[in-house]
Amino acid sequence: MTTFALRTLVVDDSSSMRGLLRELLRERNYEVTAVGTAEEALQAHIERPFQLMLIDWTLPGMSGLNLCRTVRSQPSGQDVMILVITGRNKAEDLRAALDAGASDYLSKPIDPDVLATRLLIAERAISEAARRAEERRDMQSRLAFADRMASVGTLTAGVAHELNNPLMYVLSNLRLTREEVDLRQEPDWPERVKQQLDEAIHGAVRMQHIVRDLKTFSRPDDDQRGNVDVSSVLDASINICWNEIRHRATLERDFSRTPPVDANESRLGQVFLNLLINATQAMPERKVSENRITARTYTDDAGWAVVEIVDNGTGIAPDRLTRVFEPFFTTKAVSEGTGLGLSICRNIIRDAGGTIEVQSELDRGSRFWVRLPASTRPYVPHTTKAPPRASTSVRANVLVVDDEPLIGRSIRRALREHQVQVFSSGEEAIERLCADEPFDVVFCDLMMPEVSGMEVYGRVAARRPELASRFVFMTGGAFTPEARAFLEENPLVCLEKPFELRQIRDLVAERAGPAD
Ligand SMILES: Nc1ncnc2c1ncn2[C@@H]1O[C@H](COP(=O)(O)OP(=O)(O)OP(=O)(O)O)[C@@H](O)[C@H]1O
Ligand SMILES: [Mg+2]
Repeated sequence: MTTFALRTLVVDDSSSMRGLLRELLRERNYEVTAVGTAEEALQAHIERPFQLMLIDWTLPGMSGLNLCRTVRSQPSGQDVMILVITGRNKAEDLRAALDAGASDYLSKPIDPDVLATRLLIAERAISEAARRAEERRDMQSRLAFADRMASVGTLTAGVAHELNNPLMYVLSNLRLTREEVDLRQEPDWPERVKQQLDEAIHGAVRMQHIVRDLKTFSRPDDDQRGNVDVSSVLDASINICWNEIRHRATLERDFSRTPPVDANESRLGQVFLNLLINATQAMPERKVSENRITARTYTDDAGWAVVEIVDNGTGIAPDRLTRVFEPFFTTKAVSEGTGLGLSICRNIIRDAGGTIEVQSELDRGSRFWVRLPASTRPYVPHTTKAPPRASTSVRANVLVVDDEPLIGRSIRRALREHQVQVFSSGEEAIERLCADEPFDVVFCDLMMPEVSGMEVYGRVAARRPELASRFVFMTGGAFTPEARAFLEENPLVCLEKPFELRQIRDLVAERAGPAD
């Protein structure tokens, strides 16, 4: 007997048949409505849809088969289970009933045992359809959630970029003031002011690191790959979710040397982030000090880089362990997870030629580890060695073009012993650069509205080729594909904002002198 009251409609013009069916169905706890015509049936169905219909083929007015077709054409009409009752039993008649949309048929005279079997089949189909509909709804809300998260990611990229410009001049001005305080040694600069400046610099440097970590994740998801240090990426991932982790668990970093791997930094960061968040979310409610996560990197016997995230959380039951990498497999609420995390991780790691594996014990914890082959690309270190500081104090001729005027001003202050001209428009900078003056260094923002840094370079290099090698680009980190290609084609120095005063001073000192 069913445990749920199926909303059932009987459509038969014979009142004795209606009575019989009503009785048989009520024995199974169904909620039964019985009508004599197709028109009444439709009316009742539109008012409140039925899950099951038993329809007599031959009805006065609209026939049973037409009723079938009409019900199927209604919204959610496919979800109704329809049994057509008929005295006909020729194959073509039955096919006509199925073609009209019937799910099954019942022969007259009705045999209660046959009816019971047919109803059992109907019940199973209805609960299966309900389960599938539930899954569909769940999937839709998870997809919507994933989409929302993706747009948050896109927004973050823009925010990180926007933060770099103010950070650049906040840091430069603080450091310059700090330098002046030290140089002047005036008694009216109390220790307190130095301390305040140091703390403000400390705060700004922290923001600089947050922005750098966010940028690791917001690089465009193209196929840009390179020699990547897994420990730095893991570090950035930890920093990004540090706020989630620290309230739930203690984290230990156990980093050893690993070979650089050939992978996309942002995608790798996404993998580690998901593993870290999964570990955090697997922590039971207990003292934070008892919840432990270890983030480990090392080189295995095959010379591959390994990243391991180990937790002492809830663990995963053996029957679920085989499913965790399936898309949409999740044990979390919609707002906590989409179930896409590990399946995306596996694809990313596969693309990079590596493997991701799991070991877990219920109530003891889990260990996920990623193995990546060592890169075979020639290793190009990220940071170029600082050029030796020139000892002679040559007065250099410098031009700065950045659409953010405060950046230009802070660079001018940092280079006050040099001759510095600042422009916030690419057009004006081109005009000045193409006049006959010599320039030792041209600091040029890459991404500017109106005339971009690339255009400034192109137009100046065409008119005064001797200035081409004097260009140093500055960037807040947002690259269009065009800008990326430009930098690959033109091996020019590119400084990432916010850069240090030392970097621009050393560059100017190095380049001051006759143009080559
Ligand atoms: N460290 C872990 N400890 C316990 N269970 C885990 C751990 N990592 C993953 N799982 C289980 O695997 C499931 C799938 O993980 P996955 O990262 O694919 O999706 P999710 O975390 O549920 O959602 P999403 O990552 O999309 O936000 C989780 O719902 C959880 O049941
Ligand atoms: Mg996850």
